[in-house]
Amino acid sequence: METTNRVGFSSKIGFVLAAAASAVGLGNIWRFPYLAAEYGGGTFLIVYLILVVTFGFAIMITEVAIGRKTGLSSIGAFRKLNRKFAFCGWLGLLIPVIITPYYSVIGGWVAKYMVTYLTGHGSDAASDGFFGSYIGGVGQPIFWLLIFVVVTCIVVVAGVQKGIEKASVILMPILIALCIVISIYGLTQPGALDGFVYYVKPVLSKFSGKLVLAALGQLFYSMSLAMGIMITYGSYMKKENNLESSVRMIEVFDTLVAFLAGLMIVPSVFAFSGGNEEAMNSGPGLMFVTLPSVFESMPGGHIVGGLFFVLVFFAALTSAISLTETIASVIMDKLHWRRSQTVLLVGIFVFVVGIPSSLGFGVWSHVAPLGMDLLTFFDFISNSIMMPVLAFLTCIFAAYVLKPKEIIAEVEQFGVTFKAKKFYSVMIRFVAPVGIVAILISSVMAGLGVFSW
Ligand code: TRP
Repeated sequence: METTNRVGFSSKIGFVLAAAASAVGLGNIWRFPYLAAEYGGGTFLIVYLILVVTFGFAIMITEVAIGRKTGLSSIGAFRKLNRKFAFCGWLGLLIPVIITPYYSVIGGWVAKYMVTYLTGHGSDAASDGFFGSYIGGVGQPIFWLLIFVVVTCIVVVAGVQKGIEKASVILMPILIALCIVISIYGLTQPGALDGFVYYVKPVLSKFSGKLVLAALGQLFYSMSLAMGIMITYGSYMKKENNLESSVRMIEVFDTLVAFLAGLMIVPSVFAFSGGNEEAMNSGPGLMFVTLPSVFESMPGGHIVGGLFFVLVFFAALTSAISLTETIASVIMDKLHWRRSQTVLLVGIFVFVVGIPSSLGFGVWSHVAPLGMDLLTFFDFISNSIMMPVLAFLTCIFAAYVLKPKEIIAEVEQFGVTFKAKKFYSVMIRFVAPVGIVAILISSVMAGLGVFSW
């Protein structure tokens, strides 16, 4: 059993901010915009929003309630409620083990861009081919991956999370303000209004099963669901705080940042490329290619660019810290290792396993499982396969093993009413599990072999 020495969040807002700090990261700023650009803008946006208020809401309530009910993090929580489902806790741990290495590769890219801007070389970042030749290299991206992993591990060992969390409470609003400023600037550029329409207007012909699967994966990733994190956060939450409204606030916050990040990037790409298909499909590189050219044309753009990458670096760092902490805490609980020793081991693992994802853009580009580069492949199996599977199991567990009334009772304490409880019951028993399976199957039917991400 895990030691349950729960300090707890002092207030509801403390819980909301901590959970939001985990949720807001590269998923919102880097991943959401490139998926939205690739999957037809408005169509993706609408599907995503619908999933947030239905699936996202139901699954987040479930996870936070399971955590608060048991007072344990995911492995202990599932085991305590039903031994047969203990494996869900382990599956939840496997996901951050896959995500953290490639997350750190992107963190390394962000660090490189941040330093490029801060040292006054912003124009280089905007030059053609800078990004491609940088990530295609060997030594440089691995060096920055190492830097990112080392910084993350230092913070985790020093346990200065409190400081970092305080900092992110200040930095997050600045990040939002900056996204607004950059979007407004971008939208005033010639051609950007068409881009805006592309970003918000749904077009039925763009709808596909693959789009829904991508939106679903993005939902889990962005809201830090289906990997036990929200169970852990729930275990720190006070019984008298309103769980339902807290979950709503986290959803709104996370979705707002994603929407703004998309608003900052998608219309600009559209404007700069004239809606060119290839530019819209540039995938993981979108943020690193488009934004520098926006900064280049913007008055004071190098300063704005520097500030922007500093803030993204912080958002990435806070998420990487909590991912690393998740893995480390399980090892410490089970093996009773020292913190420094454990974090060193996790750091080495993350660095070594991150290397192939980094090389996949250059010398290892011939290694292309399912036609994807290695980073996209790891991202795909974790977000589009494993997370939906775990989310499905969580629904089944909550609906048919634990029963929705247990979750509802957990929400309704101290005179709190669970406003959407009918909706919740229907979602968790029928719509979410059936929907997730349908989406998974339809995408497999669409032919995994022909997936080109
Ligand atoms: N939600 C984070 C993001 O948007 C990524 C993430 C997924 C995460 N699961 C997590 C971060 C767990 C911290 C802990 O970037």
